[in-house]
Amino acid sequence: MQIHAVSLAAALLALAACSEPPGGNGAAAAPARSPGGFPAPDRPVAPAVTDTWSSGPDRDAADESGQLIRGLQITPGMAVADIGAGSGYHTLRLSPAVGREGAVYAEDINEAYVAGLKREAERRGLANVKIVVGTPEDPKLPPGAVDRAILVHMYHEIANPYALLWNLAPALKPGGRVGVIDIDRPTQAHGVPPGLLECEFGAVGYRMVDFQRLRGGVGYLAVFEPPAPGQRPRPADIQACDAPD
Ligand SMILES: C[S@@+](CC[C@H](N)C(=O)[O-])C[C@H]1O[C@@H](n2cnc3c(N)ncnc32)[C@H](O)[C@@H]1O
Repeated sequence: MQIHAVSLAAALLALAACSEPPGGNGAAAAPARSPGGFPAPDRPVAPAVTDTWSSGPDRDAADESGQLIRGLQITPGMAVADIGAGSGYHTLRLSPAVGREGAVYAEDINEAYVAGLKREAERRGLANVKIVVGTPEDPKLPPGAVDRAILVHMYHEIANPYALLWNLAPALKPGGRVGVIDIDRPTQAHGVPPGLLECEFGAVGYRMVDFQRLRGGVGYLAVFEPPAPGQRPRPADIQACDAPD
């Protein structure tokens, strides 16, 4: 009976030692990393709540699509990936803009959203729309397939942004660009402060090459050059950016 009491105490001590944070002696726990070794974002991630960005400002009146197409120099024949396409506000407008020789990869992690978009693209006869179901860490695009990738009013919802950006880079052709439209406000309020965005892209080896405020209250467009092949950092070397105060 006494022996049992001693072994119970020893077991409790061992359990307490196991649950001590890395570093021990009260040292701060290392930031969380995913199984792939990528850091978790060190700031809130907004919940995904809808398949279309809120129509507070009128996106058509603001010509959000035209501003995106001009800002990213999207031309007929290009292949564009619409990451977080949702109901396809931009996919449905980009499809005629890139034409029969071009393609739009409409990607989302929510299969039901892109299933609805697939039906709508078929109804409109948009044969160049290709539906892709991705994961929060990987858009699952074919390598070397796209000239432009767009992330419109969705970056703040990406649960694993460092992993997603790392896995997106090989999908871009040489000279490819990534365009982000978002609102300059905290991520928990469904926006992204531009400095935070530049830091998180920079941590994965992207370089911001253009930034402009869009007309009509629809936010800003930030344009990034991806890391060259072989230039992506090792996932374990990526450091999470601090959220602004
Ligand atoms: C507010 S909606 C915006 C939809 C569309 N881009 C627009 O401008 O109307 C955000 C979309 O991002 C998708 N999403 C969230 N996290 C994602 C991720 N890691 N990869 C791809 N899509 C994601 C959601 O499922 C949702 O469809």
